Parts: sequence; C-alpha cells; structure tokens
Amino acid sequence: MSVTAGGRPGIFAIRDVSSLTTETHETGHELKRAVSGTQLLAMGVGAIIGTGIFVIIGEGAGVAGPAVILAFILAAVACTFSALSYAELASSIPVSGSAYTYAYATLGEIVAWIIGWDLILEYGVSVAAVAIGWGGNLNVFLDAAFGINLPDAIVKSPEDGGVFNLPAVLIVLAITFLLLRGVRESAQANLVMVVVKLGVLAFFIVVAFANFSTKNFTPFVPHGAGSVTTAAALIFFAYIGFDAVSTGSEEARNPKKDLPFAIIGSLIIVTVFYILTAVGALGIASPDLMVESDAPLATALNEGAGISWAAWVLALGALIAITSVILVVMYGQVRIFFAMARDGLIPPGMAKVHPRFGTPARLTIGLGLLTAILAAVVPLNAIIELVNIGTLFAFILVNIGVIILRRTRPDMPRPYRVPFSPVFPLLGVAFAAFLMKDLPLATWIRFAIWLVIGLLIYLLYGYRNSRLRMAHGAYGLVPGESADLLHRHQAPDERHE
Ligand code: ALA
Repeated sequence: MSVTAGGRPGIFAIRDVSSLTTETHETGHELKRAVSGTQLLAMGVGAIIGTGIFVIIGEGAGVAGPAVILAFILAAVACTFSALSYAELASSIPVSGSAYTYAYATLGEIVAWIIGWDLILEYGVSVAAVAIGWGGNLNVFLDAAFGINLPDAIVKSPEDGGVFNLPAVLIVLAITFLLLRGVRESAQANLVMVVVKLGVLAFFIVVAFANFSTKNFTPFVPHGAGSVTTAAALIFFAYIGFDAVSTGSEEARNPKKDLPFAIIGSLIIVTVFYILTAVGALGIASPDLMVESDAPLATALNEGAGISWAAWVLALGALIAITSVILVVMYGQVRIFFAMARDGLIPPGMAKVHPRFGTPARLTIGLGLLTAILAAVVPLNAIIELVNIGTLFAFILVNIGVIILRRTRPDMPRPYRVPFSPVFPLLGVAFAAFLMKDLPLATWIRFAIWLVIGLLIYLLYGYRNSRLRMAHGAYGLVPGESADLLHRHQAPDERHE
C-alpha cells in the first residue's frame, strides 16, 4: 500500500466499533471459532494460577507477615472492578486484541499502540519469567521425587550463576508447537492442566486445614498497614490472567455470553482458592519459613505439617500449573500481535493464518523463539514488578474505555454491562492506581523507558503504516466515523495463504 503522509487523520484516530466486528470476516485474517464457554473459563483459570500462588506467596508473607491474607483480598478487590470492565468490553467488542482493541475503539490509535506495547510486558515478557519459574520447579520436582539434580549451567540464567536455562527454553518451544497445532487442541490440553492444578491446591488446602493452628496469626500485621498494600502490589501478579480470555474473543463460539462468564467466573474461582490457600499456609507455617523457600507451599506442608512426600506433589502441581499459564499467556500475546498486525501497526504479513491449523503461524513461531531466548537468559525476579505495572496501566485504560464508550456509543449493544457505571469503573481506576503507587521507583523508571521505546517504534513504523489512518488519507477521518477500510485496501499479498 502506498500512501503519502499528508492529509491523514491524527494519531488519535478512533476505530468504529461496528466496523471492528465486521472487518475481521473480510480480510482473510479470520480465526476459527472453536472454543466453548467451559474452555474459556478454564483458559482464565489456566492463565491465572501459577507462579504467584506457588512461589510469590512466600515473598508476600515476608513483606506483610500473616497479613499477606489481607493482601490477597485487597488484590482481588482491585481486580474485580477491572474484570467487570473487561467483561463489558469483551462482550460488546468480541474481536481479538483485548485492551489494545478496546483502546483503539475508545481512546484513539496512539493510546491503542501504547497499550498494545504495554501488553507485551503483561504477556510476552511475563511468559519468559513464568517459564523460568517452571525450570525452578522442575529442579525441585526431580530432586524430591528421584534425587536428581540438574547442573546449574543448564538450569540457570547467567545472572544466577548458570549459562542458560534449558528447561525454560524447552517448555516454551513445546508450548509453541501445541499452539501452532490449533486452538482447540490447546484449549483441551489446558482444561486437563487446570483440573490438575485445582486438585493440587485443593489437596494443599485440605491437608493444611487438617493440621491448622492459629499460632502464626499473631501479631497479624507485624509490619504496619503500609506493608499490606506493598504486598498486595506484589501479590497482584498472582491474579494476572483473567483478561487473557478476552485476547482471543474471535475464537469463542459464543463470545457475547461466554466471555463475561469466563472473565468473572475465573476470577471468582481463583480468589476463593487463593484466600483458602493463604489462610491454610499460615495455619501450618510461619511467614519466616515461607519467605526463605523457593517452593513455599511445599515447604509449608513438609516442615509445617510434617508431610515429607508433599514436596514433589506440590512441585509437580506447580509445574503443571505454570505450563498452562505459559500456554494461555502465549496464546494471548499472539492474538494481541495478530490484531496489531491486522491494523498495520506492525507488519501485516505476520498475521497470516495457517490454512490447515487456522492459527497465526508466523506470529506463534516468532514469539516462541523470542520468548525462548529471553527465558534462557533472564532472571525471574527482575521482571515481576515490571509485569505488574504494565498490567495495572492496561486496567486503568480499560476502565476509562468503558466510561468513554458509554458516552460516545450509548446505544451500542452490550450483552454484559458493568453495574453502577461510572462508579465501578472509576473504582477500578482508583484501585489500579493505588497498587501502582506502591511499586518501586526503579520499576516506574523501567516502565517509562519501555513506553518511550514503544513511542519511537510507533513514530517510525505504525504512524506511517496504520491502515486506519492510511485508508482515510486525504479525506480526513472524524473521530468515531466508520472505519470500514480493510476490504477496500486489501493488498493481494495479505490474503489467505
Ligand atoms: N497469574 C500468573 C501467575 O501467577 C501470571 O503465574
């Protein structure tokens, strides 16, 4: 497509919501609608339960003591308002891309780009971190079950004293292969893993409550109220993922009904499991014991309840739990890139759908390779707070998006509506901002640098290649005007393979 720069609409050009839902059928970039409501719910739970509850709970207990339980509750409340907003937008705009797409329809192209770029932190970068956590648990499992210790050189990043993290690379490549094969296969595999991980957490909860003692609960808030919010900002990581369901809206069989069900349902299920797990853990182990462990739940059962074989059961559970996080989160990242490529903000050729598998093969393979390289060499802890700040920022914009769209498109069909709007979305903004303020200054600086890099890329590429702005070129686009553009400007090389 050749278009001149002059006369284009501005960087705040807005995509029309109704065209968003029809264009996908006309571009040759259409995905298979293969995922059921139960599978979507399992995808939400799959994306959420992982490193947070199996590993980071220990750090949270170190920060807040037994009040880490309150941190779990606070983080859940903070997520609830945003989950409702995601549910409304996902049901009204059932197109791939999640917050990126919603921002394009409400706040304009440049904000959409910033959010798309920001979501790489929540999805792409976090997958690498989570894969590293997987490698760590593999070690614990092999050691506990078979007495095997893999050499540090092939299981640790250079910063942690190794050469590269082979298990993390292998799991990312295996999941890439599964995702390539098809979304239905991936969703089925995820369902099995979700059942296993809920089973392992249920096992933990039952054993912990059977051995419960209140001695670790006093003093309940040993480090002051501020420590609870600091811990909540960290524990927030454990809840990330319910929004992943909305990245793949185009593959849902019945998106209008099933997406709100899956987003809200997965958050409710996980919150119940997390709070019971946190209370149970404190019932058998002291915060000091948990903070010192790489596998705090296993340590709690082992030393707190005297169940020595628990370590390998918990490590195996964590391995399976984290595998499904990697699966769903990688899936989400591919769908976000897919939407961005289809809009021309990254090269459109990348969004081609594989003729047989019905999945965006190039994006899947490219992301798999990049993530494998990151996972090989990056240490886990460096990334978690960066992932949190990026996700909270996306939450803020999604809540604002609900408020704006209610005003600009009051008549738009909304199969699900956030109750008490704009109060609930504003509470979503306030809670997200509240948790963001508790993240360290270094995280804010890294986040700012990341956004500046993104803006530069937009100016160098997206600004010149955006389909929305190019298509309206010299005619000028009025914000909110129909952007029915893709089929008129479809280049032959961008059709189905
Ligand atoms: N919520 C996900 C986890 O805890 C990211 O692993």
